[in-house]
Amino acid sequence: MGGKIITVGAIKGGVGKTTLALNIAIARALAGRDVWLIDADRQDTASTALAIRGEAGRQPAIATAHYPDGSQLRTQLRHQRGKFEDIIIDAGGRDSTALRAALVLSDLVLVPFQPRSLDVWAVADIAALIEEARALNPELQALAVLNLADPAGTDNDDAAAAVADYPALQYLNTPIRRRKSVANAAGNGLSVLEQTPRDEKAIMELNTLMQSIF
Ligand SMILES: Nc1ncnc2c1ncn2[C@@H]1O[C@H](COP(=O)(O)OP(=O)(O)OP(=O)(O)O)[C@@H](O)[C@H]1O
Ligand SMILES: [Mg+2]
Repeated sequence: MGGKIITVGAIKGGVGKTTLALNIAIARALAGRDVWLIDADRQDTASTALAIRGEAGRQPAIATAHYPDGSQLRTQLRHQRGKFEDIIIDAGGRDSTALRAALVLSDLVLVPFQPRSLDVWAVADIAALIEEARALNPELQALAVLNLADPAGTDNDDAAAAVADYPALQYLNTPIRRRKSVANAAGNGLSVLEQTPRDEKAIMELNTLMQSIF
């Protein structure tokens, strides 16, 4: 036991919530943990990716459920959390009852953002929701992580510095760069740890992120 409930959330579409949730869930399962990946997004992308994984017969199989509704998510989490060691919640890219419920029940929220101004500003919106959730869940830890980071240039650092201004979140200096292998793996329901040919840089970035979360 000693597992965590982790929400991957942002009030911004396309920042890599589903991709990170899949990679984190699979990495934990590969490490022998009993994992549950909850898709709390109406778009059910994470469930779809895991269905592709299941059809391919890929092991370890990842338990999944689709709870886009806040009260259903809350009820099911309370009933079923004891069955799993780690629970990863992929919350949709907007303010929703599911995202709010997830924040209240999680130990940690991981907020991916791209090194672009619009994304950095959007971090302010989830920072406000995190503050609200802490009224009910004072232990909620919140980490912002760069995803789709640039291979070079100063935009990564500029974005990180801007996000460091939001006191509700802590910036985690373990960026995941924009890599084709990351997108291709997720599309097949795979973590970059499983993808062939192996992308050692992507694997290292994910492992570094995992080490700082767990
Ligand atoms: N590190 C990365 N490198 C390359 N492509 C990535 C990376 N992270 C995400 N992507 C791609 O970016 C797009 C958006 O990612 P993803 O669907 O995970 O984001 P999301 O935040 O879950 O989006 P939504 O708000 O629509 O649910 C996808 O096409 C995905 O393959
Ligand atoms: Mg998604």
